Amino acid sequence: MKTPRKLVLALGLCALLMGLSIMNGCAPRERQPDDVGENASELPVMSFTWSPESECDVCHGTEELSWGDRTTTAGLHNPSVISDQFDCMTCHNDRAGLTSAHEEVIIGDKAPTRLWETEVATETCTASGCHDDEAARREATAGLTLLTDTKGTTVNPHDLPTGEGHSGFTCSSCHKGHAASEPEKFCTSCHHERVYECGTCH
Ligand code: HEC
Ligand code: HEC
Ligand code: HEC
Ligand code: HEC
Ligand code: HEC
Repeated sequence: MKTPRKLVLALGLCALLMGLSIMNGCAPRERQPDDVGENASELPVMSFTWSPESECDVCHGTEELSWGDRTTTAGLHNPSVISDQFDCMTCHNDRAGLTSAHEEVIIGDKAPTRLWETEVATETCTASGCHDDEAARREATAGLTLLTDTKGTTVNPHDLPTGEGHSGFTCSSCHKGHAASEPEKFCTSCHHERVYECGTCH
């Protein structure tokens, strides 16, 4: 049950805030560029030590909400559908990277809107027992006409040409974690005239 834990956390936070305001006469705030110099150490900075067991949803509300949105990859992996063992850490399994990303986080910091230091690797999706059958993947989207350019060329997203221009693609190039997936937009970010060929116009 999430709600009681959240409540306990919120109450704990309130108690902490009250304690701090009695001692310092002001509420904690975000780090400011001028938080250096002799007064800096007197500011009530609430530190936070990340662990895989932290309550992610307290700070990452947008991502938590996406569990309920089936246009997102997280929504398609909602624990109630997949397995109740499935959680944020199943996809975000770079623990060392996440520990480092949260190192300087203090309560009240803005959560990021994209990944900067970690990634959700293709190998995470293709782990044994998950999406490990490449042929089945190719087959599943063989008849898909979603990716058709203005010249009528249709491409199977799971069977893309493997030229240099396509190196470094991952599953999440197309399958967004917490927003609707828009594979066409991904293609036109390079195939800017919505033509899947280069070198025909210039
Ligand atoms: C106290 C608030 C807080 C909690 C709790 C928290 N995070 Fe974060 N998280 C942040 C902030 C702030 C950042 C941005 C750090 C930065 O940019 O330096 C961040 C960054 C991230 C990132 C981006 C890493 C990258 O590649 O740049 C991921 C993924 C993430 N958190 C996942 C999690 C998961 C999973 C949990 C729970 C196990 C969790 N967070 C718990 C505040 C929190
Ligand atoms: C990062 C840039 C980039 C993205 C994103 C991209 N492509 Fe490409 N694509 C290229 C480049 C550059 C080439 C030229 C050949 C090469 O270097 O691989 C190419 C070649 C192709 C070709 C072969 C064209 C030929 O001449 O036969 C097809 C088909 C194609 N892309 C389809 C797609 C589709 C569909 C998507 C979206 C799922 C996509 N590409 C996304 C850069 C990109
Ligand atoms: C070039 C874009 C692109 C890439 C890269 C991509 N996919 Fe897809 N995938 C799609 C599209 C488009 C669909 C069909 C529409 C949908 O279900 O979102 C799809 C559908 C799927 C489905 C559902 C298939 C079904 O049975 O209906 C699975 C599972 C999947 N992808 C897994 C993966 C995995 C795992 C990877 C990485 C190894 C991957 N995809 C890489 C675009 C992509
Ligand atoms: C099904 C896999 C999956 C699950 C489950 C998942 N994520 Fe993500 N997450 C991703 C992918 C993929 C990205 C990369 C962003 C993108 O390009 O869509 C991402 C991006 C993020 C980011 C960067 C900001 C953003 O929204 O793009 C944060 C923070 C984050 N996830 C936190 C979480 C938290 C917290 C949970 C649990 C509530 C969670 N994720 C569950 C796959 C997942
Ligand atoms: C249908 C014709 C057409 C195709 C196919 C095409 N381009 Fe272009 N490209 C143009 C035109 C027209 C311009 C000039 C547009 C402008 O200045 O806005 C251009 C400009 C560019 C530029 C220069 C942009 C700049 O700001 O200077 C780059 C780089 C480029 N294209 C890369 C590519 C790549 C990579 C591909 C294949 C993925 C590609 N083009 C396929 C028509 C095309």
